[in-house]
Parts: sequence; C-alpha cells; structure tokens
Amino acid sequence: MRRKVTVVGAGNVGATCAQVLAQRDYADVVLVDIKEGLPQGKALDINQMGPVLGYEASVTGTNGYEETAGSDVVVITAGLPRSPGMSRDDLVTTNEKIVGSVTEHAVAQSPDATLVVVSNPLDAMCHVAKNVSGWPKERVFGMAGILDTARFSTFIAWETGTSVKDVTAMVLGGHGDQMVPVVSATTVGGVPLTKLVAADRIEAMVERTRKGGGEIVNLLGTSAWYAPGAAAAQMVDAICLDEKRLLPSTAYLEGEYGIDGLYMGVPVKLGRGGVEDIVELDLSDEERGWLAESADAVRDAASVLGR
Ligand code: LAC
Repeated sequence: MRRKVTVVGAGNVGATCAQVLAQRDYADVVLVDIKEGLPQGKALDINQMGPVLGYEASVTGTNGYEETAGSDVVVITAGLPRSPGMSRDDLVTTNEKIVGSVTEHAVAQSPDATLVVVSNPLDAMCHVAKNVSGWPKERVFGMAGILDTARFSTFIAWETGTSVKDVTAMVLGGHGDQMVPVVSATTVGGVPLTKLVAADRIEAMVERTRKGGGEIVNLLGTSAWYAPGAAAAQMVDAICLDEKRLLPSTAYLEGEYGIDGLYMGVPVKLGRGGVEDIVELDLSDEERGWLAESADAVRDAASVLGR
C-alpha cells in the first residue's frame, strides 16, 4: 500500500516538500492550506509534473482536514515566514496559534501519525505540537539540523574545493543564531576539517552557517524554501521507509547533553518509530558551552508560549 503524507502549509516550504516527496514516489501527498485555491492549484501543478519527471504519486490540495485522514506522517510548515529584520523568535505568538490549531486538526484525523514540525521559531513550535497533541516525544519532533548542516556542508565544499558528497558535518542546538556547528565532528572524506582548513576560515564558515537563514531572508525578503522543503522530505523518507538514518533533528531532551525538558537539535536515529534513539556526542568544552547558550535561547523563546 502506498504511504500517505500530509503537508500543512502550501507556502514555499510546504509546496517544495510536497514536490520532493511526490518525486520520491512512495507516498501520496495531501497539501493543506487555509487559503482557498492555493493548495489545490499547487497540487494540480505538482501532479502535472509527474508525466514529465515520471512519477505516479497523487497530490491532493485541500482547505480542510478530512482528506488527511490516516496519514503516516504530518509535516507542519504553516505559519508566517520571516521578513528582513525579524528574528525567528519574533514569530512566536502568531505561529503558536497557527501551529496549535493545525496540530489539533491534524492529530484528530491521523491519531497514529508522526508529526514533523518545520514552522518557526522551530524549537518553540515543537513544544506547541507536543503539548497540543499530547503525543509521546518519539512521534513529535522538528526539522532544522538537516538544513543547518546542509548549509555548513555547502560552505565547506566551496572552501575546500571538494565534492559536497564527501562532507560529513553536524550542526546541533536550537534553530537560531546560537546554533552549534560541531567542528570536532566534521570531516571531508574522513579527514578532520581542522586538517584541511585554517581556524579563521572555519570560524567564518561557522558564523555564516549560524546566520544562514538570515542571509537568505535579506536577499529574498522572505525565508528560504528549497533546502528547508527538501530537508523535511528527507525526514519523511527516513520515517516512512524505516531507514534508521542518523540525522540531526529537533528532539525532546530529558537529560541528554545535560538538558532537560527542552526541544533542541541533536543527532537522532530516525525510523518507523520516529525518534528511535538520541545519540550523545563527546563535545569539546567550548562546544558544550555553546550548546548551553543555545539552550538558554530556546528556553527564552519557549517561555512566552501560552501552552
Ligand atoms: C531558515 C528558516 C526556514 O533557516 O528557518 O531558512
């Protein structure tokens, strides 16, 4: 039987995620948005790309939730994106209402699904989805680390003149400017990054990665979508296909990394059961300090939540 994946929010990120998933061709996709015509129009367009690219996935656009019933995974991208000058945390109050309402509707239709949150501020919105759904932490988590790591990997490939396929990087922490690119866990073809690139150049790439979302907001006037949409789709792959991928994801920590009761980006094993394991890296003292600072920033954003 084909899998069923719901993507809520037919904006740029949601539509890109739906498009990438349709191309993967193992699931049918339901695209939901409150704006009339938007999910229907984008779904129709993605269906019509099928004959060109050779996929058979069916994509349904809708303004309601009945069509989402029985989904294996629900990806939540709904909410306002950033404009220039805004931090992700500036969106917290508005997007809390949106993500809360989306979660309520989605879980009512798909009680056995896994929730992948993408809306910003990401870490805080994971708390909203968990609180509103009441679901176990294994089935409620967020996408940020794959995106942040992809940005770091891109800069490393450019800097070293090597294939991006050979870069293995790791970015942990909250999805904000305090995120922690973990240089000690970053290699190119198995060679430590520190062997290949001078410390000041690494520092520049770390800084650019931390501000990577903002760099694109400043260029486009709104948030990125190609890499975020594809990153969310990669998490759906890992879950639906039970891939047991080890990927950085925003998971609920209960003591791991010395952090308790908070969503943060950490390496997790993703499979049919959602977050099947959380892996603890040996961080340097400096990295551990940065992670604690990032946790403080996430705690601040989450503290203004009503639920
Ligand atoms: C970014 C947004 C999606 O980092 O948070 O581009």
